[in-house]
Amino acid sequence: MTRLPFIAGNWKMNLTVKEAREFAKEVADKIPATDKVEAAICAPSTHLETLVSLTENSNLNIGAENCHFEKSGAFTGEISPLTLADLGVKYVILGHSERREYFFESDELINKKAKAAFEHGLVPIVCCGETLEQYEASQAVDVITKQLKVDIAGLEKDQAEKLVIAYEPIWAIGTGKSATKEDAQKMCKAVRDVVADIYGQDVADKVRIQYGGSVNPTNIAEYMACPDVDGALVGGASLKVDSFVALLEGGKLA
Ligand code: 13P
Repeated sequence: MTRLPFIAGNWKMNLTVKEAREFAKEVADKIPATDKVEAAICAPSTHLETLVSLTENSNLNIGAENCHFEKSGAFTGEISPLTLADLGVKYVILGHSERREYFFESDELINKKAKAAFEHGLVPIVCCGETLEQYEASQAVDVITKQLKVDIAGLEKDQAEKLVIAYEPIWAIGTGKSATKEDAQKMCKAVRDVVADIYGQDVADKVRIQYGGSVNPTNIAEYMACPDVDGALVGGASLKVDSFVALLEGGKLA
């Protein structure tokens, strides 16, 4: 099964709109051909319109970092999936560990958001991952299985096969302490097994699974060489054009 590698940046709450504009202008013609790797930058909602308009004619896709499950209503400060789609946004990160930890997002909420994202034509990048304590207690597979069984439940088959799932061990995020390629492969395979259990192996074979956690241009190749790792979700190393482009050039067909 050939899956198109997918490298996505997660800017989190970084860069000003001015800096985002400079990044987009500089990166637009440096993105490799779309038959080799797919590229996306997921940015704060305040930056999305600027990024979409500056990358319209490029190979770079734009994603959001969160959305609400309703398309409109009395939800002060929230981000509508309908509006994101209307802006030309393609992806939305859901259930990042920082949203789970600091904003108390539950698996049930993430599931509602995933369904809403698909309903409005967005593709969710659903995140899962264990804490250091859980990793050390050898509970990682159980933890992500429990998360994903709820996060991705109840989708149509044609939605499920478009899913992107990011396995991000919390202890590897922003720490410089990346997972070994053996752990990344084992966990991404475990993610695929959960999808297969729910939606069947044919769907699982199509779903793209990313590893995330201290990925950088020097370690990306070893993750991309793992059979079940189809790409990466990258924080810090996606903030600079050179580094982001190097990540894309280090990717290869799975
Ligand atoms: P870092 O690449 O900075 O470790 O962040 C990973 C991450 O959280 C991507 O979503």
